[in-house]
Amino acid sequence: MTKLLLDVLRGNPVTTPPVWIMRQAGRYLPEYRKVRERYEFMEMCKNPEIAAEVTLQPIEIFSMDGAILFSDILLVCEAMGMELEFVDGKGPLFRHPLRNLKDIESLRAGEACARLGYVFESVRLVDATLPTGVTLIGFAGAPFTLACYMVEGNSSRDHVVIKALMYREDRGFRTLMEKLSQVLVDYLRGQVNAGAEVVMLFDTFGGILSPTDYRRYAFPHVTAICKSLKESHPATPIIYFAKNGFGLYSTIKDLAVEAIGVDWTVSLSEAIANTGNKFTVQGNLDPAVLLAGHDVIEREAKRVLKEGQAARGHIFNLGHGILPGTPVENVKRLLEVVRCRS
Ligand code: CP3
Repeated sequence: MTKLLLDVLRGNPVTTPPVWIMRQAGRYLPEYRKVRERYEFMEMCKNPEIAAEVTLQPIEIFSMDGAILFSDILLVCEAMGMELEFVDGKGPLFRHPLRNLKDIESLRAGEACARLGYVFESVRLVDATLPTGVTLIGFAGAPFTLACYMVEGNSSRDHVVIKALMYREDRGFRTLMEKLSQVLVDYLRGQVNAGAEVVMLFDTFGGILSPTDYRRYAFPHVTAICKSLKESHPATPIIYFAKNGFGLYSTIKDLAVEAIGVDWTVSLSEAIANTGNKFTVQGNLDPAVLLAGHDVIEREAKRVLKEGQAARGHIFNLGHGILPGTPVENVKRLLEVVRCRS
């Protein structure tokens, strides 16, 4: 049986677009909340049986075409030696953020992957039980996005601390980005070797930089990671997602990846045109639409589907993670519309 998601990433024609949803395993699902009552979030990530179980929940409930591994982009930072917490209601927290060259030099890049063995084990477990036709997606945070969290300490609003370090502490910033890139290449290779069929790079904070700064400070590292992956694993498609990335497309269009993730602040038509129709596009329904009525869900999903037809390929997804209060019924309705059973 062919895999729809892999087909569209390889540029093969398909009759219906594959669909999966960012953050598809999570708090909006009663099945997830039930498991979460018994464990802390990080405990779930570090327990391969539980991580695999939760990864497969949305596959069983909605028959998604892609299974994204249940994990988090920040576990890599912990493996490099930082103390990481997830505070209920607040999100991730590094109590001792990186503030200077000395902090950055003390990060351990060499041993990080050895400490992430639980992730590779989770990938192997999911791979062993994945339903036919479903594609397993591995992922990592892009280096600039991880650096934002490691230097700011939390989900900052204005990102002045990372920007000040980037502008003033050239050597420290470069060392941090290089260490992260080194770890991320090994980490993504490890996921592919364990069974991930596609990898996605999340650059959630790419769009906080001016296009010039993005090109100078962030993009070269993304390019290097993709190049290294392509050298070792040429057949594994890569999806690159820069949130608020519209202003960066003239740079991103040169990236050696199969697909780009698109958020809802730009139309798919414009995203396709501005990247020279080089990529399969993934997106870009506003997650808030899933809080609306079925009529709005149908209208907006059809609009996204129509715009996606102009692309080399289209993976239907939201423009960012599904919101915690999303009714499960609405997700079911969305999938019916996408699969033309309206
Ligand atoms: O998509 C999936 O279902 C797979 C798992 C996944 C999670 N985080 C699980 C998670 C993925 C791919 C991520 C990526 C991630 N994590 C990103 C990049 C994508 C994006 O959303 O921009 C970022 C920035 C993070 C960091 C992070 N982790 C934040 C800011 C938070 C708190 C806010 C939130 O959305 O919950 C987390 C926690 C987190 N990561 C949860 C889950 C299911 C919630 C944990 C819980 O309390 O149960």
